[in-house]
Amino acid sequence: MATPPSFPFARPKAWHPPAEYAKLRAIEPVSRVELWDGSHPWLVVKHKDVTSVLTDERLSKQRNRSGFPEMSAGGKEAAKNKPTFVDMDPPQHMQQRSMVEPLFTHDAVAKLRPHIQKTVDTLLDATIKEGCEKPVDLVDKFALPVPSYIIYGILGVPFEDLEFLTQQNAIRSNGSATATEASNANKTLLDYIANLVDHRTQTPKKDLISKLVTEQVIPGHIDRSDAVQIAFLMLVAGNATMVNMINLGVVTLLEHPSQLAKLKTDPSLSPYFVSELCRYHTGSAMATRRVAKVDIELAGHTIKAGEGIIAATQSASRDEDIFSDPDVFDMMRFAPKEEGGRGEDWYKGMGFGWGEHRCVAEPLARGELEIVFTTLFQRLPNLKLVIPYEEIKWTPPKKDVGIMELPVVW
Ligand code: HEM
Repeated sequence: MATPPSFPFARPKAWHPPAEYAKLRAIEPVSRVELWDGSHPWLVVKHKDVTSVLTDERLSKQRNRSGFPEMSAGGKEAAKNKPTFVDMDPPQHMQQRSMVEPLFTHDAVAKLRPHIQKTVDTLLDATIKEGCEKPVDLVDKFALPVPSYIIYGILGVPFEDLEFLTQQNAIRSNGSATATEASNANKTLLDYIANLVDHRTQTPKKDLISKLVTEQVIPGHIDRSDAVQIAFLMLVAGNATMVNMINLGVVTLLEHPSQLAKLKTDPSLSPYFVSELCRYHTGSAMATRRVAKVDIELAGHTIKAGEGIIAATQSASRDEDIFSDPDVFDMMRFAPKEEGGRGEDWYKGMGFGWGEHRCVAEPLARGELEIVFTTLFQRLPNLKLVIPYEEIKWTPPKKDVGIMELPVVW
């Protein structure tokens, strides 16, 4: 057997997905790839096969099972840690997920909207006040703090600690810190959360940590370390992806001026815009991995027990069998035909994953993005990049799509 191609594939440039995905969708939808450690998991690239993998209970998400595909040496080490629910199978997965799910329902997020709007307004006020005589890095001033400040509010982190913790979270996940710096920042955040869990055990308030302590730890459903892990997961799980989606949304709109004008005129289109943004860019695309617990058949192949599978959501989001002109960014794609849209099904966009592990905080993330994009271009209608698109600093081509810096004026 010829050596399979090395994976992850590289983006050819900017935000475009690796060209290999389209080729494989056409000729070999289920194939083998080679990872950094010489292992050869399966790669699945068609929407129908990705959804099948992500809903098949014969496949496991437990990273401590032999054959689970890890994407780096660091990942292999991290897989030895106590798992959070993102890496659990039924029934433990739903037991823990359901402890936080009520916070992210549509109703709960509707109640949070004023808090989200206030956070966005406060950060924009401060940025506008500082002025733009010199170009301002929108990532630093806006995209990075918005999601952190919001989730910290939900968790119950005191306001005065937000700046420091946001900094630590950035060091932990932005890829430019050394391994030691990143691991120190990780420890700082974990220690901080553990401390807060202890404080809330003594004096509960109305936040998520107090809820976990009073409803789960004290009655004995989970122990203190589980509560720390769950709170920590909330803090880190969606952070880098949220930052990336804000940055990508800004550049996508600036690159599609007629769609930007339409959104400015009619902010009620923002849910359609956000759905298309998350389909088109599909960040967090390396999380959807599994290992087979028993032999299974998939699209004419036998996947043996102990073999790994990578479900390429980024490819599924561009599947021409599901989306028309999938490489075109069209914010009206998911609007009904009678409103001038394409009438496609937003739920099929793979930006938030699929199946039981589909993003638990999807309604929150969508709400944040809708508010960000209706507010940002209303407050700063002349916002523009000071560098050409070609000079944007993208995340490394084999990592999730994202932007590192956005120098802007308005
Ligand atoms: C635009 C922003 C976001 C995107 C694109 C995104 C994407 C995803 C994806 C693709 C998954 C599935 C991973 C898998 O199957 O393993 C996921 C799961 C998850 N996300 Fe998000 N996410 C976002 C925001 C957030 C936020 C803000 C939070 C927390 C407040 C969050 C918390 C989680 C958690 C805890 C899971 C694990 C769910 C489970 O395993 O049951 N995400 N997210």
